Amino acid sequence: MKNILVTGGLGYIGAHTVVALQQAGYEVVIVDDLSNTHISVLDNITKITNIKPEFYPIDLKNLEVVDQLFKDTKIDGIIHFAAYKAVGESVEKPLMYYRNNLLGLINILEAMGKYNIDYFIFSSSCTVYGQADEMPINEQTPLKRAEAPYGKTKAMGEEIISDFVSATDKKSIALRYFNPVGAHKSSLIGEMPNGIPNNLIPYITQTAAGIHKTLKVFGNDYDTRDGTAIRDYIDVNDLADAHVKALNRLLNKENKNNLEFFNLGSGIGSTVLEIIQSFEKANNIKIPYEIRNRRAGDIQEAYANYSSAERELNWKPVTNLETSMKTAWEFEQSVNNILRK
Ligand code: WQD
Repeated sequence: MKNILVTGGLGYIGAHTVVALQQAGYEVVIVDDLSNTHISVLDNITKITNIKPEFYPIDLKNLEVVDQLFKDTKIDGIIHFAAYKAVGESVEKPLMYYRNNLLGLINILEAMGKYNIDYFIFSSSCTVYGQADEMPINEQTPLKRAEAPYGKTKAMGEEIISDFVSATDKKSIALRYFNPVGAHKSSLIGEMPNGIPNNLIPYITQTAAGIHKTLKVFGNDYDTRDGTAIRDYIDVNDLADAHVKALNRLLNKENKNNLEFFNLGSGIGSTVLEIIQSFEKANNIKIPYEIRNRRAGDIQEAYANYSSAERELNWKPVTNLETSMKTAWEFEQSVNNILRK
């Protein structure tokens, strides 16, 4: 049985990946500082798989604590999600983002070197491409300087890993997510942002739940088919599946380079208005919205060419947007019900 350390494993994508790992027969150890999630996620993962992962509430910025964990725990591979990820907040608090996202990564890599762990999967983001010149975006598309410190920590993280694996001959895969959406079919885990959501889908589900009166659409003057910005919305369960396939690739020594990159998206670009319509149709709910100015730092268009992941990881997105809109709404209702009890 292989033991996999999942940092940020109680987060949105992390929790779905832990479920997929356990169902694929891996033993999972979660570390999470609970800064952007809730301990109830651990129980809900256990309810889904009937296997309670080991859990340690650890701040990865503390090298001593990280070292002790690696000393005490058998680890065959690592999937590193733990990072702050609010684009707007990163602009206001850059040093908090650089310290947390980069020092946390460096401490994990240092422990990998010391305890001879060879396989590392990094949670990266399509943000590293900035506004790409051509669509769809493939892994050879030149990276552009990200607007916000959040995106810069992802690009810097990839560079740090690249230098680390070159120096140590360890093996790593960076997965560049487009826009994660949806929830587990059980409605036990899903996207549960603290405070007012930055991302579109949780804001839509909270508007549907009556938490917000109306959705603000950030700009309808883009050069797109309806004037609103285009993104690639990929179901979180498909993302989780990609992590298991990437881990299998490393553990089976099938990787072709010390560091490989894969775009994870649906390959479909949807405008904000099309997402609203998709949610309304899937759930038979009207979403009130108003057009506002563009949001600083937003790009106009991004959607993925995922053929490299399809070929090398034997992965493809299988969940359609309508299903993701349904599971997102079902999860929002289940969270509210919990709150209502
Ligand atoms: C999507 C579209 C907004 C909210 C970010 C990160 C990226 C990834 C996904 C981690 C944009 C519009 C949004 C709202 C709106 N994170 N919008 N009203 O900015 O594409 O990507 O989250 O992996 O790294 O950068 O996602 O959901 O914030 O925005 O009109 O209330 O919806 O302008 O066009 P984004 P988002």
